[in-house]
Amino acid sequence: MSDLQSFREAVEAFISARGWTATRFGRQMAGDPLFVFDLREGREPRSDTRSRILKAMQDQAEAPAAAPLRIGVAGLGNVGATLVRILQKDGAELTRKIGRAVVVTAVSARSRSRDRGIDATSVEWFDDPVALAKSENIDLFVELMGGEDGPALASVRAALEIGRPVVTANKALLARHGVALARLAEENNAQLGFEAAVAGGIPVIKTLREGLGSARIARVYGIMNGTCNYILTRMGNEGIGFAECLADAQKLGYAEADPTFDVGGFDTAHKLAILASLCFGCEIAPDEIFVEGITKISQADIKVAGDLGYKIKLLGIAQRSADGIEQRVHPTLVPKTSAIAGVDGVLNAVALETDHVHELLLAGPGAGGPPTASSVLSDILDIARGTRVPPLGVPSQELTPYKQAPMKAHEGGYYIRLNAKDVPGAFAAIASRMGAAGISLESVIQRPDLRVTDAASDVSIRTIVLLTHSTMEQSVREALALIAADGFIVGEPQLIRIEGL
Ligand SMILES: NC(=O)c1ccc[n+]([C@@H]2O[C@H](COP(=O)([O-])OP(=O)(O)OC[C@H]3O[C@@H](n4cnc5c(N)ncnc54)[C@H](OP(=O)(O)O)[C@@H]3O)[C@@H](O)[C@H]2O)c1
Repeated sequence: MSDLQSFREAVEAFISARGWTATRFGRQMAGDPLFVFDLREGREPRSDTRSRILKAMQDQAEAPAAAPLRIGVAGLGNVGATLVRILQKDGAELTRKIGRAVVVTAVSARSRSRDRGIDATSVEWFDDPVALAKSENIDLFVELMGGEDGPALASVRAALEIGRPVVTANKALLARHGVALARLAEENNAQLGFEAAVAGGIPVIKTLREGLGSARIARVYGIMNGTCNYILTRMGNEGIGFAECLADAQKLGYAEADPTFDVGGFDTAHKLAILASLCFGCEIAPDEIFVEGITKISQADIKVAGDLGYKIKLLGIAQRSADGIEQRVHPTLVPKTSAIAGVDGVLNAVALETDHVHELLLAGPGAGGPPTASSVLSDILDIARGTRVPPLGVPSQELTPYKQAPMKAHEGGYYIRLNAKDVPGAFAAIASRMGAAGISLESVIQRPDLRVTDAASDVSIRTIVLLTHSTMEQSVREALALIAADGFIVGEPQLIRIEGL
């Protein structure tokens, strides 16, 4: 056999024994990704190149195998049990990808006897997640229990304090303690991954920390709660009310028995607080967010918005303004033609507006066992490979204090739905209050089809919808208070912000 022939066979045997690709071999051994392809085409490498590559292959073969990464998982619910299943099923594939085995060696949950569809025979069981976090027999601690304090906080702290890397999917924990935990991680030279904490399976944290690490971000907005998006989508598509859609979401397991956290907008606010910190290099400030949920959105709003070319979505939005950083979560009119309007059902999406890339929209499943476990796994692989990035994108001492731009200074367009008494002077009074507040109206629409009755008065009621040009929130609120005081409307005016997209 010729030298070249035996060299070619040695290369092919090396590639197949390791499950490598030809490109990886070329890049790693020959410094040229196309090396193996050239070889297969019959091109002959120089003899000194062949000698160098044979030596590199021999060194590789003799190198001791990297020690496995031993993982302790606290929390074996929807996400935790799925993660363990994936690691047990795809372990060999992952080892090939990262050159090191990743093995679950210890777990913790509340009930030891519950069947979770995983093989727990060869793993160590801990009743106490803090003891698991500190165990000598793990290299990485994964927290998947949930809760902003309690065992989640105690165990994550315990791991970081001894310099052990941590991966968590816990947005509540991050929103509340993210800066302190990032600082603790940096002080102890430990990594802290939380890809799954925002928008489930969508890799938005990695995109912000690494992919867009050098970009200046002007605005981030997104649909970050699948329950709300499911409800609003069905209300829009099927013409049914909020309560019916919520009941269905609960039946399908998309909404909790107590849905307040989701439909009240608070879950979105937690995720937005984390994103805003990564986008703007500021401290995480979940309590400074203006939050309005979707419970007051009616079929009338969905219908009128649709006729005007809009959909209603619950958006979390953070942007720089002259006064600081605006963070707000509220139902929003978005043009039907915008990309985010097409994100329906339980899907999530995050849009990032940057200086050089302009707009980037990441869309996909925001929750569920497999998508969320996939994001947890992505953090685990980064840690196994030794990737090191400050948890919040910049070293925690470089984070600026959060300067809140007050909501009353927010400027944008508004949709206002009023139920006005059908009496002389009512409409003129409404228009004059708007004009006096300096609010310019883009359109005024009467909707006789939306019938409203008021048991307390014998006059008929007309639904009027006003769309404003860009104006200040404070002016709108003051004008509506005066309109209500004039006594020409019944019930609360409906106010929905319009986002320029
Ligand atoms: N589910 C999703 O789609 C999703 C998406 C994104 C992020 N997340 C986040 O992922 C985390 C886990 O969510 P999940 O849906 O998997 O929750 P889950 O189904 O309720 O599971 C929670 C797990 O934690 C265990 N646990 C609770 N308290 C414990 C304690 N004191 N000691 C030991 N174990 C304890 C529970 O044990 P038992 O099973 O014995 O009760 C259960 O296995 C949360 O932070 C959540 O916000 C979830």
